[in-house]
Amino acid sequence: MPGVDPKSYVSFDAKVRQAKAAERGKFQFLFLPDGPSQMVDIDNEAPNFNLDVMLTLAAIARETSRIGLIATGSTTFSEPYNLARQFKALDIMSHGRAGWNAVTSSGEDVAANYGQRIPSSADRYGRADEMVRLVQALWGSWGQDAWVHDQATGQFAKGDDVVPINLGGKYVASRGPLYIPPSEQGQPVVVHAGGSPNAHALAGRYASVAIGASFTIEDARAQRAAFRAGAERAGRDPDEIKYFPGLMTTIAKDRRTALDRRIAMTGRTFPQRTAYLQQMLGVRLDPARLDDPISPDQLAAARPSPHDPRSAHALKIARQGWSLRDVLAHGVIDYHPVIAGPAVEAADHMQEWFEAEAADGFWISPDIYEDGVDAFVDGVVPILQERGLFHTDYESATLRGHLGAPAQYGPDPRVMD
Ligand SMILES: Cc1cc2nc3c(=O)[nH]c(=O)nc-3n(C[C@H](O)[C@H](O)[C@H](O)COP(=O)(O)O)c2cc1C
Repeated sequence: MPGVDPKSYVSFDAKVRQAKAAERGKFQFLFLPDGPSQMVDIDNEAPNFNLDVMLTLAAIARETSRIGLIATGSTTFSEPYNLARQFKALDIMSHGRAGWNAVTSSGEDVAANYGQRIPSSADRYGRADEMVRLVQALWGSWGQDAWVHDQATGQFAKGDDVVPINLGGKYVASRGPLYIPPSEQGQPVVVHAGGSPNAHALAGRYASVAIGASFTIEDARAQRAAFRAGAERAGRDPDEIKYFPGLMTTIAKDRRTALDRRIAMTGRTFPQRTAYLQQMLGVRLDPARLDDPISPDQLAAARPSPHDPRSAHALKIARQGWSLRDVLAHGVIDYHPVIAGPAVEAADHMQEWFEAEAADGFWISPDIYEDGVDAFVDGVVPILQERGLFHTDYESATLRGHLGAPAQYGPDPRVMD
């Protein structure tokens, strides 16, 4: 993208700058997905993932003071002791701002990096359940008041309160203890990203945050309700789990400017994307005629594909008379709903979903981090604040506090069978 350092993929300074911009906007947390795998057309694109999510957040932790720091850690391709140690160390380093996005990982490309195949869904979620339990047990294995660090007596810790967990299941085991004291929030917050019934159950038991992908307000409502039901089934209060669907933003002074920015950013891929759009709309589209609007005959014949939940919205945009290039520039085939236009459109979308009980908040994915975070912070955040929908400052110093998540140290006794 013009104006962006093409080497920023490897720049930790850039990550820190972007995190500071989000903190200026009082975002509750950063959320870093992770494969880990390459998963892109490397000839043309930088990989989507950070070089290493924990190192990225460690760099950011040292340069920020309030924003929560959530990284993805695979429950399939990690050992509980490794994850427990890294996340609790990050929690200490950030003074209680760490969160663990516990996901089971998908994709044979990821599995191959560990010399494995992707296990069955039952095995992935069975292991995930044991992993979260063990990790939380390890976090709690250094007793809450065990660290006395009394220089006068020379006592460092109460050894009797730092105890092995001796837990093992079908998939993972650990003796422990983990030798890290509690942080300002006790221990990291557990997060989950997904949308399947397995995800609802796992997140329902352990997560304070569920990150989702919903293209319609109805789907988001259903997803939010399913996560809340999962929490209730586990004996928790449904308000303890917050659902954050994704929203991708290109904030600009008007729609035309936003579309042009998106064309500069991803227009190269539009000829290939035309083939997919044609399946979504059920009509033939010509990738050689990207600048023509879709003809009235085609629009009349078009039917949204029942196999892709984005199709109805794509057809709505097409019927507004945009050229094929502009229809694609609206992001109708993107990973989340896309707002391409003035800030007020993003604020309206968020307010509508929030008031319809389709979201407790949003995971914002700006088009280009280098200036897209600032565009959101300077454009959308003030509108939400004026409407009384977003805070004007942090009320807390910890991630648990930002989320209103209840205190927890060690496993949650309510969800242990
Ligand atoms: C918004 C969102 C973000 C996700 N981020 C990640 C991620 O960073 N890493 C990962 O391995 N899985 C991630 N997942 C979860 C996987 O995609 C998950 O395995 C997939 O939803 C399949 O779920 P299932 O195994 O329950 O069928 C994410 C899911 C969603 C909805």
